[in-house]
Amino acid sequence: MRGKKIVLGISGGIAAYKSAELARLLIKEGATVQVVMTAAAERFVAPLTFSTLTGRPVYRSLFTEPVQSSTVHIDLAREPDLILVAPATANLMGKAATGIADDLLSTVLLAVRLDECPVIFAPAMNTAMFQNPAVRDNLAQLRKRGFIIADPLSGELACGEVGEGRMAEPEQLLTLIKRTLAISDDYAGESVLVTAGPTRESLDPVRFFSNHSSGRMGYALALAARNRGAKVILVSGPTALNPPAGIEFYPVTTAREMYDIVLESFPAVDVVIKTAAVADFRPELAAEQKIKKKDELQLRLVRNPDILEELGARKNKQFLVGFAAETTDLLNYARAKMEQKNLDLMVANDVTQPGAGFNTETNIVQLLYRGGGVEALPLMSKDELSHQILDRIKEARRKIGGRE
Ligand code: PMT
Repeated sequence: MRGKKIVLGISGGIAAYKSAELARLLIKEGATVQVVMTAAAERFVAPLTFSTLTGRPVYRSLFTEPVQSSTVHIDLAREPDLILVAPATANLMGKAATGIADDLLSTVLLAVRLDECPVIFAPAMNTAMFQNPAVRDNLAQLRKRGFIIADPLSGELACGEVGEGRMAEPEQLLTLIKRTLAISDDYAGESVLVTAGPTRESLDPVRFFSNHSSGRMGYALALAARNRGAKVILVSGPTALNPPAGIEFYPVTTAREMYDIVLESFPAVDVVIKTAAVADFRPELAAEQKIKKKDELQLRLVRNPDILEELGARKNKQFLVGFAAETTDLLNYARAKMEQKNLDLMVANDVTQPGAGFNTETNIVQLLYRGGGVEALPLMSKDELSHQILDRIKEARRKIGGRE
């Protein structure tokens, strides 16, 4: 972390005391930490605690000391390598999601350019507040815009209730900061191919067959692998997402286009992660003109190539990861696909569970390993899950000697 500039934003919650430990850890790692506190945060921990730990005066308002220029909010948004808001209250995230800037911290968050400076929110609040639809919507909006959310933990809360809402621990936040700044670099020198999104199979010039994949899972994996130093190739069906900077990006529409790019890239890559929801079938013939209304329409569908199965047949050094989206008998179907496609790891999601699968910010998966092991992971953001999957891939490759 030496040389890295971190702005640590603190909003008003009891978890603010944990941010003192986080500031200490960051300083110990060599980072420069500039603390910005909201007025409510000062009710929980004195600014003196942070100025003593960081060796720098704490910024507390747009207008009072140590402000030295009228553009302090711009300077605080431009200078850091990363901004972490911990704890992030429902109020602060609501302001960030809706563009309200009525104090220094919320103004800095409005002035930040996310492509230059990542921003992490570490929410901390009562479970009912965290589960409130207004808060969920704000979180979803923030994620969609590229803010990173450090999922809160479950456990005993300051109010005495038990549930989701405890701020992530300082050590976990430190790891997330390092990953986000690509300081871990544990994938440096590796080439990772990710597929994402749906494919579209045309029926006529205005209609197509597709599915509900938003691409989020695959884009999160591509970003996480890039942040950990990998050379990333992302092959994506049509989505509404912006591809992360600094990767090779190939937009495709159909399964056959995806097949061509993936097969061409395959010999040179070390890891393939196929999150794409590829259409298994396509209309045998796409009509040249719009099909007109009639009482009945008979369609003949033909099989698309199975890209992953083909990779499984060709693989030599590559580590192959598949995804299985199932609505019933999850483990049996996922295991059968894993064997049929000769995979090293299968990520199985039961898409009937709330918060799992298609078009969600989060996922709930079970990991199936070669040799029969199964690991169930709890609900988490697709960002966090991506890192967990990359951790497991690294560990499995180490065990099978794939990297040595
Ligand atoms: O994009 P999101 O909205 O974030 O949603 C994520 C997701 C639900 C799409 C993702 O988590 C997921 O489960 N992806 C796999 C979807 C699926 O149903 O796969 P499948 O069971 O049809 O195929 C199994 C594996 O074979 C997949 O890795 C798939 O990419 C691959 N496959 C499938 C068919 C085909 N013709 N070629 C393939 O390569």
